[in-house]
Amino acid sequence: MRNKLVVGNWKMHGNMAENKQLLDSIVAAINDLHTKAQFAVCVPYPYLSSVQTTLRGTSIHWGAQNLSQFDKGAYTGEVSSGMLNDFACDYVIVGHSERRALYGETNEIVAEKYMAAQRAGITPILCVGETLEQRESGVTEKIIDEQLNAVIKLAGIESFTKAVIAYEPVWAIGTGKTASPQQAQDVHVFIRKKIASQGSDIAKDLSILYGGSVKANNAKELFTMPDIDGGLIGGASLVADDFVAICRAASH
Ligand code: 13P
Repeated sequence: MRNKLVVGNWKMHGNMAENKQLLDSIVAAINDLHTKAQFAVCVPYPYLSSVQTTLRGTSIHWGAQNLSQFDKGAYTGEVSSGMLNDFACDYVIVGHSERRALYGETNEIVAEKYMAAQRAGITPILCVGETLEQRESGVTEKIIDEQLNAVIKLAGIESFTKAVIAYEPVWAIGTGKTASPQQAQDVHVFIRKKIASQGSDIAKDLSILYGGSVKANNAKELFTMPDIDGGLIGGASLVADDFVAICRAASH
């Protein structure tokens, strides 16, 4: 059975003092929650060390928001999976739509980053999703198919035993326009069926998160859909009460 997973993606927000306050509040509220659900925060690189210190020994996991596809070398400004291992990251987000749109990450580069994470034993959270224009022109499934195919081609279907997929419709990210539970469920079913066509047991156990304007007041109805296994949370993960409420919504 799949357990729910809620991951905060802080994006480029925070500072030492705010992070500590945010995490202390979250830990105080959910560390003793008796639940099979899992929780994590993906934070900017410079804070990995202090976040590790704060969260070590708690039930909350941590990770990064990006990594290099290369293991080492002359890649100024990049961070390797081995470096993330030095901070005991459990997760790393790959192929977030902001990376794809603003930093030119192609499906192939995303697939290489996914592989790099897995080589280091870090669980990649592979983001897929369509833009508004793509949805309106009826190519949502085609786009997601292509995004997944690049990863399947490079890493193989078996790799999904050690990965999480996040469906994040680009039009729902940071816009306050959440996909309806049924809209999200439909795409999650498409993704699960695609994986199942090559490995049915792998698909059954695969966690597929929804991301895009998940808030305290809509998390519950999203998480009750049968193929939505939790959420990847942007803005609401920066407000302790909101993130805690979303974690609680995943806990029943
Ligand atoms: P928001 O929750 O702010 O819409 O962001 C979603 C997201 O991009 C998470 O990765």
